Parts: sequence; structure tokens; C-alpha cells
Amino acid sequence: MKTNCSLLLHLFFSLALLLGLGKPDPDPLQDYCIADNKSPPSFSTNGAPCIDPNKATSDHFTTSVLSKPTNTGTSRFGFNATVLSTINLPGLNTLGLTMSRVDIAANSAVPPHTHPRATEVLICLKGQLLVGFVDTSNRLYSQKVSPGDSFVFPKGLIHYAYNQDPKIPALVIGRVQ
Ligand SMILES: *[C@@H]1O[C@H](CO)[C@@H](O)[C@H](O)[C@H]1NC(C)=O
Repeated sequence: MKTNCSLLLHLFFSLALLLGLGKPDPDPLQDYCIADNKSPPSFSTNGAPCIDPNKATSDHFTTSVLSKPTNTGTSRFGFNATVLSTINLPGLNTLGLTMSRVDIAANSAVPPHTHPRATEVLICLKGQLLVGFVDTSNRLYSQKVSPGDSFVFPKGLIHYAYNQDPKIPALVIGRVQ
């Protein structure tokens, strides 16, 4: 009976593979698509249109925007996020991921929010944070992270990051995909 079962499973998976059910996402149609920020299209696209690939340079794939500490004093919740985009990093266009730098003042938080279509993993570089998320059965997962520690917020779930320290600001880098 047991062998019959695994034979059936094998058959099922082979069939699924044959029918293409096990295929990963398709590869992009091009190596890259440097965002053309000069001529915004009059039609809707998923991402920005590409510049002529022959005009691509190394500069299109690099930026220092995440190296700069930001001002948290003027923001409502005491955090300031700098996000890589097709404007400050044109080579990022269509690749399906981004990164951000979030400066969080002492005794401040990135309040609960969600990214409906993306997972986020962060790494703490400075200070200490209480981070967490709530799953769809209302279970809370919470953890204290210190420099070098990472934490992942699964796609679509409400999450937050709280700098409980009364004096020391915190810095995290988040990758969103
Ligand atoms: C974030 O920091 C930048 C750079 O210091 C500043 O120009 C901007 O006003 C700040 N944003 C908020 C919401 O405070």
C-alpha cells in the first residue's frame, strides 16, 4: 500500500512538472531596463520605460543615497526612511526588489503598517529595536534586535519597529521584495 502511494505521488509530480505547474517565475526579457526618468510615458507600465541599453553606464547601477543619515526631528513619528527607487537608482527598474535606510530616533517607532505584496527583511546596524509582526491568526511574533541581527516580516503581515531606548537612535537597512 505504501509503495503504491509513493508511486502515485511520483506520477503526480512528474505530471505536474510536465504540465509546467512546477515552473518558477519566468526570466526577465532583458538583462536590465535602466529607468528613463526624462520622458515619463503617457501610458501605464509596470515600472518605468527603459533607456537605450547601449547608453547604460555603471553610474546607472550605483547610488550613495543610503549612506546619508537623515533628519528624524521633523517627522511625525520620529523616523525617516530613504528608499532606493528607479529615480535614485535607475538600474533597479523592473528587478522586483528594493532597499531602504530607516533612521529611528530614540523612543520612537515605525508604526504598524503592511506591504500587501512584499516580504521585508531588515538588518539592524545601530541601536536596538523591538520588531515584530502579527500573523493572520492574530499571533504576535516579537523580537529585540541589536546591530548585526536580522528579522523578516512575511509578505502582507502587519509589522512595526520600536526604538525603546530613551537616548540612542537606531538605524536599520531593509530589503523589500
Ligand atoms: C528626512 O531627512 C531628510 C534629510 O535630512 C530631510 O530633508 C527630510 O525633510 C526628512 N523627512 C522628514 C519627514 O522628516
